[in-house]
Amino acid sequence: MIKKCLFPAAGYGTRFLPATKAMPKEMLPVLTRPLIEYGVEEAVEAGLNTMAIVTGRGKRAIEDHFDISYELEHQIKGTTKEPLLTQIRKLINKCTFSYTRQVEMKGLGHAILSGETLIGNEPFAVILADDLCDADSHNEGVLSQMIKLYSKYKCSIVAIEEVPKEDTNKYGVIDGEQIADGVYMIKNMVEKPNPEDAPSNMAIIGRYILTPDIFDIIRETKPGKGGEIQITDALMTQAQNGMVLAYKFKGKRFDCGSVDGFVEATNYFYKKGSK
Ligand code: G1P
Repeated sequence: MIKKCLFPAAGYGTRFLPATKAMPKEMLPVLTRPLIEYGVEEAVEAGLNTMAIVTGRGKRAIEDHFDISYELEHQIKGTTKEPLLTQIRKLINKCTFSYTRQVEMKGLGHAILSGETLIGNEPFAVILADDLCDADSHNEGVLSQMIKLYSKYKCSIVAIEEVPKEDTNKYGVIDGEQIADGVYMIKNMVEKPNPEDAPSNMAIIGRYILTPDIFDIIRETKPGKGGEIQITDALMTQAQNGMVLAYKFKGKRFDCGSVDGFVEATNYFYKKGSK
């Protein structure tokens, strides 16, 4: 079954400058926890135990976050502050973390291909940490829902959400045939189409299950939108050769790559009583 989760985390986070000048965007906190920690929690909840993180220059804080800080631990041991580290300690104990660097920024497809060395020849999940998801009133996270679906269909799956038509140029957009409640067999997918060219308003969000043949397909994929190697294009090839599903997930998702989404997420988790 699926045990590994890939986190592409090499991007510059330009929409959050100057905050992201010296700090990875994945480390921006929603309340007291960095975005990537929410992603790792979601992966662990889905039963995954191997986190494969594709980093770049200036991303060392991510590695340090998922490690023991001996000085700090020593300093706060036995004080009222110690419980603040309980949750992250538990998380670190439940999984392993490995890292590789994306040396050139050539798009999400290229970032995923850079992770091949950490994944090998097995199906895996992908989380884009700036899409922050919460189960909300449902009792399982988005990735967990997708893993269940994978065990039935054994093919690549993308999570989708309906977005206002004018926003299609921010996402990969799919067109598909519904085969079960919330499950679509993909017929077409386009990276960031203008609203007038979009095949629908069903947008891909940052959760994927990928079968490992995707690596060879990415290697053969020509640069697409923005001159970058797009996972959307590689998945379209995979859909044409076999089957790729889109899954309308249950729960909430915040675009924490934008200031508006970030503020919304912060308010949501604050009201929910998260720490
Ligand atoms: C990437 C993908 C896009 C997807 C989006 C989800 O775009 O290329 O297909 O809809 O993630 O967040 P990015 O937001 O990295 O530009």
